[in-house]
Amino acid sequence: MCGIVGYIGPKPAAPILISGLKKLEYRGYDSAGIAVIEDSHIKITKSVGKIANLEEKLSGVILNATTGIGHTRWATHGKPSDENAHPHLDCTGKFAVVHNGIIENYLDLKEELMAEGHTFRSETDTEVLAHLLEKYYAGDLLEAVIKLQKRLHGSYAAAFLALEEPGRIVAVRKDSPLIVGLGDGENFLASDIPAILNHTRKTYILQDGEIAELTANTVKVYDMGGNPVAKEIYEVTWNAEEAEKGGYAHFMQKEIFEQPKALRDTLAGRLDAENLEVKLPEIEENLEFYKSLNRIFISACGTAYHAGLVGKYLLEKLVRIPVEVDVASEFRYRDPLIGRNDLLVVISQSGETADTLAALREAKKRGARVLAVTNVVGSSVSREADDVIYTWAGPEIAVASTKAYTTQLLVMYLFALYLGRVKGTIDEKLYKEMVFGLKEIPQKVQEVLEAEDKVIEFAKKHLNKEDAFFIGRGLDFAVSLEGQLKLKEISYIHAEAYAAGELKHGTLALIVKDVPVIALATQEALFEKMLSNIKEVNAREATILGIAFAGKKEIAKVTDEQIYLPRVPELLAPILAVVPLQLLAYHMAVLRGNDVDKPRNLAKSVTVE
Ligand code: F6R
Repeated sequence: MCGIVGYIGPKPAAPILISGLKKLEYRGYDSAGIAVIEDSHIKITKSVGKIANLEEKLSGVILNATTGIGHTRWATHGKPSDENAHPHLDCTGKFAVVHNGIIENYLDLKEELMAEGHTFRSETDTEVLAHLLEKYYAGDLLEAVIKLQKRLHGSYAAAFLALEEPGRIVAVRKDSPLIVGLGDGENFLASDIPAILNHTRKTYILQDGEIAELTANTVKVYDMGGNPVAKEIYEVTWNAEEAEKGGYAHFMQKEIFEQPKALRDTLAGRLDAENLEVKLPEIEENLEFYKSLNRIFISACGTAYHAGLVGKYLLEKLVRIPVEVDVASEFRYRDPLIGRNDLLVVISQSGETADTLAALREAKKRGARVLAVTNVVGSSVSREADDVIYTWAGPEIAVASTKAYTTQLLVMYLFALYLGRVKGTIDEKLYKEMVFGLKEIPQKVQEVLEAEDKVIEFAKKHLNKEDAFFIGRGLDFAVSLEGQLKLKEISYIHAEAYAAGELKHGTLALIVKDVPVIALATQEALFEKMLSNIKEVNAREATILGIAFAGKKEIAKVTDEQIYLPRVPELLAPILAVVPLQLLAYHMAVLRGNDVDKPRNLAKSVTVE
């Protein structure tokens, strides 16, 4: 998963490419590079490491070129290095390419090209694209790219430059995102919207197989056969600042604090508390299917999978339908017993996660209907699903997902309430309570955010610990899983989540003096049992942070520190309970001096298997 940018217009391209790449750094940050056409050469500058390294390399270099492409990389084929960084050139130096995705048949193509005399400089799959372009070019970049694309298997978004045509960029996409930004006398190309927001709000979202041809004054889009495609302009409604850090130290902190707004946006138009109505026009059109479906499957990765676990609990409770949840990389290979009259719900912030997309395709192949819950309009998942409910969380830049998770949860609540109502499986009193609870939820999250200082205190005490445990039962266990993932991925502290009742079947052996344990106890029916489990941990002298609803003072007797959540119907507890866990992970990571927004070895959008 990498980020692509392109610029063509009257201004020097390099600074525009660099600033665009910085906005895409979340897509990969092991190396970066740009290619511009200058003085009858394609000039390439690239550097291993973050965009800042590339910027440093370019400082003092005067580049007047007004056409260029750029790339930020997350290694797949070939280690992070200057040679493997994009852009890549062909043998003659007349063609340059940047690419995101994987060319699955690159070894065959490489062999063929080498037999024809081409010499390769890198270990990447991408370099075959430059050589193929050299092979097919006969004076027309667009024609050559149309020919070249027919040779490719795999997923890709790629942009091409030809020395002989400095006023043109051609780009293609299949299974990897790519958008065109439409300017005034200038045009842009990018893997994602934040990269172009400083310049324009008007975009074309390219679809699979589409080829875009950019000049300074025109953008034309073609299908794989070279036939013109009429595109609709998608006007971006986010503020430029929304895609920036605002006043926060990190994107992650900003995104944690944006949750009340993100939740409000996701609720907008979907919850009419006065009339006790949940509206989901997205699925209304196919209500007959939803009313009569047999089983629900949920598939997703990472944090989105954890949202799915909460979804299972809600759907089984409120809709009385059996629900299976799988991580997408397992679902796709386990020969799942899914078919007609079944629904697969895929949850994906980016809508581009390769395994989630593959799970979606697998389910469709087997005749199931697919509902996507995603944050990105026009994403692959949104295009391929039968129905889509968007989480309106806005762009999420930090690698560690926060506002995407809580808005995914919110959609799961809305979906379960909606379906429970139409199927008549939900108790009217509970429905009413939940609808009013949801209306209040953004404000309640705002209140939980005030616990930040308390969380910082706890983080300071434990910042040198190497292990942490999260325990809970039922919904609290699902949230514990998300808490431990957050802590692991950005603080690098080893963390585990346990169903509290399971501790004594092995893991209790690891609970020793001063080990931090975060105990969630929001579920009334399980509260006494949780107290017993907490006592088991307390007896081993762990340091315990208890999280419970306001008024549950009993928790103070068995824990060292407490965070009390404002009262909401207890089924809604996950949306509140996860917030201190997000803050804990964030502050632990900051205190340990980690790169919070870009944790090691991880990238935001995992578009390879
Ligand atoms: C963790 C995190 C990842 C993603 C996962 C799925 O904080 O962000 O676990 O949740 O890679 O990504 P999406 O939701 O884009 O499919």
